[in-house]
Amino acid sequence: MTLQDRRHLQIKPDAQAVADAVAGLLLAALQRGAVLGLATGRTMQPVYGALCARIASLAAPQRAALTAGWRSFNLDEYVGLGPQDPQSFTAFMHQALAVPLGLAPGQLQLPDGLAADPATEAGRYSHLVAAAGGIDLQLLGLGSNGHIGFNEPPCPSDAPCRCLPLSAATRRQNAAAFGGHADAVPGRAITLGTRDILAAHQVLLVVTGAPKAAILRRTLEEPPGPEVPASWLQNHPRLQVIVDAAAASALQLR
Ligand code: GLP
Repeated sequence: MTLQDRRHLQIKPDAQAVADAVAGLLLAALQRGAVLGLATGRTMQPVYGALCARIASLAAPQRAALTAGWRSFNLDEYVGLGPQDPQSFTAFMHQALAVPLGLAPGQLQLPDGLAADPATEAGRYSHLVAAAGGIDLQLLGLGSNGHIGFNEPPCPSDAPCRCLPLSAATRRQNAAAFGGHADAVPGRAITLGTRDILAAHQVLLVVTGAPKAAILRRTLEEPPGPEVPASWLQNHPRLQVIVDAAAASALQLR
């Protein structure tokens, strides 16, 4: 990131302030009919809570128009998990957005983790995103090893939507949702690729908490490269980064 790009970095006092700011941007995007690219994970829980609160406060006709026009595609899903598995990203999105907002099945799209052939499913999902005209606004969290979606390092900037093995680091990162057992985290996932993510019209990277400070610094302040897949975002012409003070604590050029 160059100094000039710092205009696109917002540092908020805490995770709730980050969530409020991100929810405002998501609401504005929805109001202009954007196709959203959505993410899961702990970072997104307060974001979706804040978004639901904002939507609930709209007048009924506006709220109805917004939910009727909702179109979103999630980044990723674990292979082997389906909507009935509480740890699936499909279940996460159902609880976080579909239930509170009353969205219809199909408005929130995710890869099918139960597909008989995950590679074929990745191709199908990629075509589905393309058929919708691509992603207008892609929301992203940051993995502790620098992954975005489930694009694990090393990863080139043009990786396609695909099925891939998850690293030991990522399975440890996500173990809390599986009773603390990294071995219980599925070994594979389907993810949109860095190519799909970088093709989005606008990208919004959201990072909170001190444990992400070092990887955020590498993401934004080291030359882009395959060892930190999120660092490819530096090349995106419309990247916005919203972080809390704890996550920003290792940045040099604040
Ligand atoms: C997960 C997801 C990512 C997410 C990241 C951070 O594995 N695949 O999309 O952004 O890791 O998760 P968290 O917000 O829980 O730290």
